[in-house]
Amino acid sequence: MTTPLTVRTICCIGAGYVGGPTMAVIADRCPGIQVTVVDLNAARIAAWNGADTAALPVYEPGLAELVERCRGRNLHFSTEVDQAIAAADMVFLSVNTPTKTRGIGAGEASDLRWIEASARQVAAQAQGHTIVVEKSTLPVRTAETVKAILGAYQEHNGATATGPAKTKTFAVLSNPEFLAEGTAIEDLKNPDRVLIGGDETAAIEALAEVYGHWVAPERILRTNLWSSELSKLTANAFLAQRISSINSIAALCEATGADVREVGRAIGSDSRIGKRFLAAGPGFGGSCFQKDILNLVYLCRHYRLEEVARYWQQVVELNNWQQQRIARLVVRRLFGTVSGKRIAVLGFAFKADTNDTRAAPAIRICHDLLEEGAHLAIHDPKVSSDQISADLGTPDSPGGDGLGHGLNGEGSWESSASVLAAVRGADAVVVLTEWGAFAQLDWTAIAALMRRPAWLFDARAITDAAAARSAGLQVWRVGEGD
Ligand code: NAD
Ligand code: UGA
Repeated sequence: MTTPLTVRTICCIGAGYVGGPTMAVIADRCPGIQVTVVDLNAARIAAWNGADTAALPVYEPGLAELVERCRGRNLHFSTEVDQAIAAADMVFLSVNTPTKTRGIGAGEASDLRWIEASARQVAAQAQGHTIVVEKSTLPVRTAETVKAILGAYQEHNGATATGPAKTKTFAVLSNPEFLAEGTAIEDLKNPDRVLIGGDETAAIEALAEVYGHWVAPERILRTNLWSSELSKLTANAFLAQRISSINSIAALCEATGADVREVGRAIGSDSRIGKRFLAAGPGFGGSCFQKDILNLVYLCRHYRLEEVARYWQQVVELNNWQQQRIARLVVRRLFGTVSGKRIAVLGFAFKADTNDTRAAPAIRICHDLLEEGAHLAIHDPKVSSDQISADLGTPDSPGGDGLGHGLNGEGSWESSASVLAAVRGADAVVVLTEWGAFAQLDWTAIAALMRRPAWLFDARAITDAAAARSAGLQVWRVGEGD
């Protein structure tokens, strides 16, 4: 029989988009557990500890309220990584696992250097029995590596004449996170499922008990380690595949006069297909879909499953094509040249209700338009000018009105504080993120500020196209045939 374990202290390594919100919800739902989120990035920790909760490093609806409620009570943010590990019964590894940019597997495999570094730190600093939980998304069989690192530090020393018995032992679990940004707090409070992979019952049940504070028992799934690691990659691959599927059909709709929203409604009413994740758009972005599919592709190749690898790779290729297609289409409709033209870009985040721009479709689309010499006036309600500058790799250059920047062929951009500021003097508006406010725009006011003939390119199909048309704009909407 296994001895039950109760978790009283949690350390989470990585105070990012997953670590911060996940630990805030755990702290809120489990007042008896002390939760410390640690990170090497001192500025990030300072922002988590800042008095102004409107300026937390992560913007998520509902997060600031949770942090206000729990911070200092049983939720702590710190750079004292060693100390927090030593005090913890359970350590979550929630560090970044981006695609490798160099060396073996560059462009496909996940870069596991941060996972390995944090596992080594846990190995060195942990005391007593510690449950180590893989929260990051990892290639299947990573737990083997984590176990090997931790195993090298395990100690079972009985009491000696010079000191008491000393033990240092570890259990490793996989507990991937399925939250989506923008709805992270809701997803964490009401998850479709919590997945726990492992082979040590006491550790599995200890983690299940943590989630059991607010998640119904039938939603807590237990699997072996490898199924859990692989389920995370598979879930993201299936979700991304739906988006590439609907985007491929959107292009066909545009060519044939069909409407992708009507097609989506028709097919989504089939309960076997389902309604969600059928919104055509500028291609999926975000830090994970592309990274996780490429990782899956790499794993398939590793196991010599070339056909399987090619199957999943096509999901990413279609996504790249969709982004390029939109930039090209804008240029084509603006008489084949955007050089010197002012284009208002509405939305830069990879989706609404987040300040995250990682792999945002806006980055590639803006890049392509800059290459063509456009002057972009970019407005996003939550993304800072500095972030846009970092993503585009060039500083801003305010004041472009299509004339001031001339026809020298050099692209440039500026950040606009409002939609009206962005559209002033613009030849086109390109909507790239589905922020709710963009559905309510006053097209008469906007059209009055634009240079004629003016265009609306709605890559999210969320604006009031009829109102834009009656205000005199020409309109292109993703997935809508002429
Ligand atoms: P992130 O980059 O926002 O945060 C990771 C943090 O870990 C960074 O702040 C970094 O400084 C810190 N870190 C790295 N190594 C460290 C170390 N040795 N010690 C202390 N801190 C360290 O990443 P994220 O978006 O939170 O993603 C984390 C993981 O969760 C990834 O594997 C990702 O695939 C997965 N995931 C992300 C999402 C999402 O919506 N972003 C959802 C589910 C799963
Ligand atoms: C996605 C998954 O939905 C989460 O379950 C997963 O935990 C997470 O990845 C992760 O592993 O990081 P996220 O990327 O935050 O979450 O957001 P999504 O809502 O999935 O959107 C991803 C991208 O697809 C966005 O660019 C979004 O605009 C796009 N999308 C989504 C569409 O173009 N159409 C849709 O119908 C849905």
